[in-house]
Amino acid sequence: MNREEYIKASVESFEAILREQLSRTDRMKEGAKPESLADKEVITVGLIDGDGIGPIIMKEAEGLLKKLLEKDLASGRIIIKKIEGLTLENRLALGRSVPSDVLEEIKSCDVLLKGPTATPKGGTMESANVTLRRELDLYANVRPVYVPEKDIDWTFFRENTEGEYVLGSRGVEVGEDMAVDFKVITDPGTERIARAAFEFAKNNGKTSVSIVTKANIMKKTDGKFSEVCHRVAADYPGIKAEDWYVDIMAANLVNPLIRSQFQVFVLPNLYGDIITDEAAEIQGGVGTAGSANTGDRYAMFEAIHGTAPRMIEDGLQDYVNPMSIFKASEMMLRHIGRQAEAERLKAVLDKAQGDDAPKVTGFREGATIGELVGYIFENL
Ligand code: IPM
Ligand code: MG
Repeated sequence: MNREEYIKASVESFEAILREQLSRTDRMKEGAKPESLADKEVITVGLIDGDGIGPIIMKEAEGLLKKLLEKDLASGRIIIKKIEGLTLENRLALGRSVPSDVLEEIKSCDVLLKGPTATPKGGTMESANVTLRRELDLYANVRPVYVPEKDIDWTFFRENTEGEYVLGSRGVEVGEDMAVDFKVITDPGTERIARAAFEFAKNNGKTSVSIVTKANIMKKTDGKFSEVCHRVAADYPGIKAEDWYVDIMAANLVNPLIRSQFQVFVLPNLYGDIITDEAAEIQGGVGTAGSANTGDRYAMFEAIHGTAPRMIEDGLQDYVNPMSIFKASEMMLRHIGRQAEAERLKAVLDKAQGDDAPKVTGFREGATIGELVGYIFENL
């Protein structure tokens, strides 16, 4: 193709993208109202192993859930369904980030607990996470980071369905020397994540929400994000809404003099991705933080970390840290209205982070996953 042809092809693909994104915006405006799972007769929990260390941590999470939910499982109020086929091999063989039969199975559940899934670098195959977040419309990625001894109690509300991710696999190469990606921010997409953040703040006695953008540079998209957040904030008079740029926020989180003042954060997708890894590291590593992806119909709970292929290559299977998926399990229990079970799990997980518990470090010097899980069961 010559330059003019490249431009023409790019403009055509951009036009298609704009139409599709405007329809998505319309659908969000018509959006369904949330259902409460707590009152549902039967709740189906789907378990997805994932890749790499996924099956290792999911096996332990399943054991823990079966123990905690013993009564509900026996009475049939909760059903556990194992979802097979969301493996990298299967996805590559079928050329689908989430094969359609697997997606159907997933949609027959109410909530999901998922191990990490691998994403091939480059190419056009979308990350399974991104596909699932979109297909199930899981717009709120909620990531708590809690370090009482450092006076840190943060809850991040990362927008999970748009921003830099929604068209992340749909950018265009305009000739050989240039590539363009797209970032999309919409009013209804921002409004719903902002509302989730402010509602959480209100219901949990928080007094401030930090809006994290780079609106001085990404003027249109981040500008809209901040503006919509402030519009929502007007409905919550007791809660202070403060703008912060993402670069200085990255610095603030490692500044012990000011970081304790932050409570709730609301961020566009990519900044949320990056900042929550940083925050998890402050808590003790990405292996320690749980993550909830919630929408109005479905919710998916997962570990914040990836598949750790190097641990498998180095034969470190026995030293994998299951804490992140356990925290995600706790969030799931709360979401399905099993507060007592969640509290029971929380108590033992807090204890398992204390000095007397086996310390899993991810290295041979540390404790094994078996030792930690044994300790957890003993103290449950
Ligand atoms: C996360 C992960 C994912 C993301 C990857 C696996 C696509 O890093 O959940 O934060 O970038 O959102
Ligand atoms: Mg991430």
